[in-house]
Amino acid sequence: MTSDNDRRRGLLARLRGRPAARSRGRRRLGAAVRLFAALMLAGGAYTVFAPGAQAQDNPPLTGAAAEGKALFDVSCVTCHGRNAQGVEGRGPSLIGVGAASVEFQVSSGRMPLARQEAQAHRKPPVFTDEQVRQLGQYVQELGGGPVVPGTEDNLHEDGNVAAGGELFRINCSQCHAFGGGGGALSSGKFAPSLHPATDRQIYAAMLSGPQNMPVFGDNQITPEQKADIIAYIQETLKTDQDPGGFNLGRYGPSTEGLAIFLVGIVALVFASLWIAGKS
Ligand code: HEC
Ligand code: HEC
Repeated sequence: MTSDNDRRRGLLARLRGRPAARSRGRRRLGAAVRLFAALMLAGGAYTVFAPGAQAQDNPPLTGAAAEGKALFDVSCVTCHGRNAQGVEGRGPSLIGVGAASVEFQVSSGRMPLARQEAQAHRKPPVFTDEQVRQLGQYVQELGGGPVVPGTEDNLHEDGNVAAGGELFRINCSQCHAFGGGGGALSSGKFAPSLHPATDRQIYAAMLSGPQNMPVFGDNQITPEQKADIIAYIQETLKTDQDPGGFNLGRYGPSTEGLAIFLVGIVALVFASLWIAGKS
């Protein structure tokens, strides 16, 4: 019994000893609450003053872009990722490529890509013009970038064919050949023929510089000069197929050299036969 009382007294004594400890605990608790409040305030201030982080996750899209996103999430997301930020080893980020790049790639049937290869090929397009515009609008609203102006199909009405020819020979013929028939580049890549390209695709190709093609921004080639180049491609190159006469399969200097070589050798053989016959 006494031992029980002792234990109770000891317990009371220990409890009475607590107040000091409790107030220390309360002070610590107070400090923790103040720290927590300060952190919450800082975090809150950060979210208020840095809306960029939020905007990236959830950009407010216009109607056309929302339609584009729906198409994108079905046909492009596997290779270009959610929000078009790219997928390692599958497809590049589309942030900042602009509606021009989308218009070029999708309207020429290159995208959606069917299989991985050195270079995407022109194919019949999978999407209508309207859908191409929606996809372009979506990528445009995600990251900005160059845009082909307007919605007109004819972009060379005011183009000057002669000036365009000059610009074409300086800027484009080294890859696409003087006749616009295209040619091989290194590592299995090639510059395609320009003959199937529409005005808007030519414009978009210049603005976006697909693959090895350089970007011809509006600072290098003004919109008026672009119209000149398009006029030259559409009105001269596509109609006047062989300005030099005999085209030799349009393979450029190698076939021309071979032709000259063969003609020359045959002439020399006959000349030496003729000389031998005389003597
Ligand atoms: C099977 C994978 C795949 C699919 C599906 C795909 N892409 Fe691509 N995309 C690629 C690859 C790889 C490249 C880069 C190669 C190239 O440029 O030829 C590319 C390049 C592009 C580019 C050019 C980017 C630049 O730097 O200018 C655009 C724009 C594009 N894709 C849009 C789309 C759109 C829009 C869709 C859906 C309609 C789509 N892609 C579907 C793989 C894919
Ligand atoms: C360094 C080489 C190079 C130069 C210079 C160049 N291109 Fe290209 N071009 C390419 C390549 C490569 C492609 C193919 C891109 C692809 O398939 O993704 C291409 C594609 C194109 C296409 C798309 C054809 C199609 O299939 O619809 C057009 C149009 C085009 N170029 C126009 C031009 C014009 C106009 C110029 C001059 C202002 C020019 N290019 C200069 C290399 C070049």
